[in-house]
Amino acid sequence: MRQKILVARAVFPEVIERLAQHFEVESNQDDQVFSEAELLEKMRDKDGLFATLTERVSVASLACWPRVKAVCNMAVGYNNIDLDAATKAGVMVTNTPDVLNETTADFAWALLMAAARRITESEHWLRAGHWKKWRFDTLLGADLHGSTLGVLGMGRIGQAIARRSSGFNMKVIYHNRSRLTPALEAAANQAQYVGREELLRTADHLVLAVPYSPAVHHTIGAAELAQMKPSATLVNIARGGVVDDAALIDALRRRTIAAAGLDVYENEPALHPGFLALSNVVLTPHIASATEATRRAMAECAAANLIAALSGAAPPNLLNPQVRKTS
Ligand code: DGY
Repeated sequence: MRQKILVARAVFPEVIERLAQHFEVESNQDDQVFSEAELLEKMRDKDGLFATLTERVSVASLACWPRVKAVCNMAVGYNNIDLDAATKAGVMVTNTPDVLNETTADFAWALLMAAARRITESEHWLRAGHWKKWRFDTLLGADLHGSTLGVLGMGRIGQAIARRSSGFNMKVIYHNRSRLTPALEAAANQAQYVGREELLRTADHLVLAVPYSPAVHHTIGAAELAQMKPSATLVNIARGGVVDDAALIDALRRRTIAAAGLDVYENEPALHPGFLALSNVVLTPHIASATEATRRAMAECAAANLIAALSGAAPPNLLNPQVRKTS
């Protein structure tokens, strides 16, 4: 009998076709977002799940999925999945690292430049008909060239962001759980490891690239924002919840930092309404990895992981190798 899988959200049709060569596939090309209860029901008779960051996989759901051997996330982040519970339940979990590093780093720079140089604010101002004459102080922003870039979370995406700063003649400082090797620091535009407080106090532009876990919840809150320069820009391409959105809105409103560029939010896609009233924040809808090539690569990567996991081979991006099973 063929194994059964659920592809929980809409995805490239070619990926469904590839999966259908191996499995009986229930797809969701209408792209409903299943509640945890709906997902729980749909997965009862399935052997594997092709998930995205919108599917919550919890202890409770795993307990109801006796057949499930693998949950393969089409994302590098996997905070939607309780990895410990999956490991205890003997369920393999995979993600899609590496294929999105460069695309996501490009986007962090797009947000940084847009926020520091007030690009979206300028366009809204122009479209609203406010541009009547040239003035010396119209929409003054902050320089990137020659400034100090701070990176919190110096994994592969953080390093790709740092590498790009050499063209702007920037100094790079970073904070991370562990210090990079000298070779990796050198490749990341001679990045210098500093403590968290020094990072916050010294960076002209701070980019957050730290993976979400409960340990980093609100790692940027009111106290941290208060340590940043009033001229500083904050960019978040990591995950909602890393930043305390209410505290950031307050800091942007009071201009205790100058600007922010955000791709991720607490409770997304429900945005804190305070953001919409601010002109000094650039807001994008969680699209840092959204290029055609990269989203295809992520989908192919998740499919390859699922095919390997359910056929007894080692999935290339297995996060909990201790549970590897043969089916
Ligand atoms: C990821 O891969 O974790 C992104 O946030 C989704 O594109």
